[in-house]
Amino acid sequence: MSGTRPVKHLPDFLLRNARILSDRTKILPLLPKGGHIAEVGVMAGEFSRTMIEVCRPERFYGIDLFLIHEMPQVWGRPTSEMFKGQTHQAFYEARFAREIARGQVQVLAGDSKTMLERIPDYSLDVVYLDADHTYPSVIAELEVCSRKLRPVTGLIVLNDYIMRDDAGPYGVIQAAHDFMMSHGWEMVAFALEENMYCDVVLRKLPASRCRRIARRLPLAAGYHKLGRF
Ligand SMILES: C[S@@+](CC[C@H](N)C(=O)[O-])C[C@H]1O[C@@H](n2cnc3c(N)ncnc32)[C@H](O)[C@@H]1O
Repeated sequence: MSGTRPVKHLPDFLLRNARILSDRTKILPLLPKGGHIAEVGVMAGEFSRTMIEVCRPERFYGIDLFLIHEMPQVWGRPTSEMFKGQTHQAFYEARFAREIARGQVQVLAGDSKTMLERIPDYSLDVVYLDADHTYPSVIAELEVCSRKLRPVTGLIVLNDYIMRDDAGPYGVIQAAHDFMMSHGWEMVAFALEENMYCDVVLRKLPASRCRRIARRLPLAAGYHKLGRF
């Protein structure tokens, strides 16, 4: 495929714990409850709302450039209609005004990598990546995420695990595979989407057999606060 970076073949051991889900909303009940979540690329906040309702995070970071109002249209819809005549950021902040007031939602306006750096190291339970889908951007986000997530239980969800669309090639699959192989992360879920804009969930491989067993024990004992992966 012209203009497309080659995809590294994943070894089986990075896929052996992956389950397949019918769509991305099925990921949410499997994530930790009451944790710290960052969504990178929020648009109008549709999926932020769903994540907040299902995962009830103690802290939710909504990260975006918040510049979409400068475009006349997006996804065939006037942005003035999408944001009710407000700027992108004003619309998002109004939508989550209650959650912002009680300190649950924090809005971080700017480039994804810079904004992720503002979050304390090793504090996040989940990052949902859905911003710039080019290879350099996604691989840089993944590098930052590996420092921002809790070391053993942290999860990365990548949206748009697809090779390309009408706008051109994506780099999500290549970045995900390169990151998994260089940093030792495995795929634990693959969520379908009708046009194959799929999601994948990644987690760090345990460093040793003991750690692998220790990770399974709470789940086996019915303790699900840390999620069900
Ligand atoms: C596909 S939309 C996100 C959709 C949202 N996650 C959902 O499922 O409802 C992509 C968003 O990423 C933002 N974005 C693109 N590049 C970015 C970057 N480098 N840093 C931060 N946000 C970015 C855009 O402004 C846009 O709002």
